[in-house]
Amino acid sequence: MLRTHTCGELRLENVDQEVTLAGWVQRVRNKGGLIWVDLRDRYGLTQLIFEEDSSEKELLDKAAELGREFVVQATGTVIERTSKNDKIPTGSIEIKVAKLEVLNAAKVPPFIIEDETDGGDELRMKYRYLDLRRNVVREKLQLRHKMMQETRKYMDAQNFIEVETPVLIKSTPEGARDFVVPSRVNPGEFYALPQSPQTFKQLLMVSGFDRYFQIVKCFRDEDLRADRQPEFTQIDCEMAFVEQEDILSTFEGLTKHLFANVKGVELEEVKRMTFADAMKYYGNDKPDLRFDMKFVELNDLAKGKGFGIFDDAELVVGICAKGAAEYTRKQLDALTDWVKRPQIGAKGMVYAKYNADGTIKSTVDKFYSAEDLQAWAEAFGAEQGDLMLILSGEANKVRKQLSELRLKMGEDLGLRDKNVFKPLWVVDFPLLEWDEETNRFHAMHHPFTSPKKEDIPLLDTDPGAVRANAYDLVINGVEIGGGSIRIHDRATQQLMFKHLGFSDEEAQKQFGFLMEAFEYGAPPHGGIAFGFDRLCAIFGGSDSIRDYIAFPKNNSGRDVMIDSPSTIADEQLKELSILVNLKN
Ligand code: AMO
Repeated sequence: MLRTHTCGELRLENVDQEVTLAGWVQRVRNKGGLIWVDLRDRYGLTQLIFEEDSSEKELLDKAAELGREFVVQATGTVIERTSKNDKIPTGSIEIKVAKLEVLNAAKVPPFIIEDETDGGDELRMKYRYLDLRRNVVREKLQLRHKMMQETRKYMDAQNFIEVETPVLIKSTPEGARDFVVPSRVNPGEFYALPQSPQTFKQLLMVSGFDRYFQIVKCFRDEDLRADRQPEFTQIDCEMAFVEQEDILSTFEGLTKHLFANVKGVELEEVKRMTFADAMKYYGNDKPDLRFDMKFVELNDLAKGKGFGIFDDAELVVGICAKGAAEYTRKQLDALTDWVKRPQIGAKGMVYAKYNADGTIKSTVDKFYSAEDLQAWAEAFGAEQGDLMLILSGEANKVRKQLSELRLKMGEDLGLRDKNVFKPLWVVDFPLLEWDEETNRFHAMHHPFTSPKKEDIPLLDTDPGAVRANAYDLVINGVEIGGGSIRIHDRATQQLMFKHLGFSDEEAQKQFGFLMEAFEYGAPPHGGIAFGFDRLCAIFGGSDSIRDYIAFPKNNSGRDVMIDSPSTIADEQLKELSILVNLKN
């Protein structure tokens, strides 16, 4: 070993010991006859000291030439510091260096490699390997590592078997586009990268594996956002001979295990809410329950009083922001402008302030009497000091808009505390979802999800009303995971494909293997997948999953460090039968 200790472990008890450390030079302070060097490695920072009176001239000169990020090895004696630094664990000691070896010199780094850096996003992505030297970044990946170990520990203890499924497969429909890989040996044919291992894990249940899990890369060609990457990781699971309740309790167990063992947080009971209620009360299938602000529908109280906008609206609905009656006119105008932005799309906003003096002032006082407004306040459960914010319009649209406004108010009022965790199971999702673009129904989860038995007759009469045995785990308004109890017989699977607009031939071509497997003794089964990157981000208190991925892609799906995607040579295209009309 090139070192006897790490840069994070020496303390007062080590004083007088002869040690050798190795690491990166974080900072050099040169006071002429006295030079201090902060030496960094993964474990911490230790101060090296070079003094003129005791160090040889040659050694001092060598130290004076050190630059940021030089890789060095230093041998010396641990001494007690005269001025201690209580901000770092090694702050009571320093190393009086007797021998210094430069293991590798370094160019001046493009940004400062400390917790506070001057490097912008793009630059740090280009030099991600340098960014990863920073404690704050490395710690995020250490959290990820710990989560991964604890996941394996829990799953193994629950008798799950980790099985690797292939990466070169064919399309698994999870609602995104596939990344495809051309096959050289099968000209004109392509593999697809898995959007998830869905079909394979179901086949493993047919094989009798009974409990499968995998921490697995998935690939989806979709628009990127803070919580989406084209390649991301799932904790993917499947269980045989189970009902929905068994899956929920097993994965509630995993969630609690992770919170307890990684964060030291005893998670409360995971609440349950139906999809229908989530939409009605929060306008969203992943409500953030760190704060209340439930939707209150006002059709009965607000219509028929001569205010045309409400009279013509399908839905008048609002939220009550506790203690926000003190918002100024300027703030309220800004809020109105905010909901009118094209991204939100509201036509306008009505508000009513329940003032401290007991009066209620609204923007529509012309149409509503004091008693009318009092009745609104009662419906909202509003008290003096509260602010009622009301939107109206087409029901689905206005719910979405109000959901955004609710989240913004939660944010503005400081109700979305990153150290509070409110998990929720959303259950009873619809089986199908109408897609305006293609003018047909799509599977809301995926086509292997089973409908609720009692709703099957509705498939022919009112397909949109059929509920699925599908569930999502939501934490603080983030969809962490989703799963379902599957179809496990050929006839139902075929029926499902029919309702999704597949011809029998298409269904057979794409998923014949799965339907055939169902004919060889498929046990009832179901499962779930957690988005592992998202789970890490929630644990770390961040909105972006990128920080928890060692080498992420940027917002255009590029890795700017290795510069990919990139073009390939004509020769290679030809070999892959993609470019067939090349001369010669
Ligand atoms: P689903 O499509 O809901 O289900 O995915 C499961 C979870 O994966 C995470 N996730 C993502 N994370 C980062 N970037 C992405 N692009 C991305 N897409 C999804 C989310 C999501 O909840 N096979 C089913 C699971 C099952 O039925 O068992 C599936 O993949 O947190």
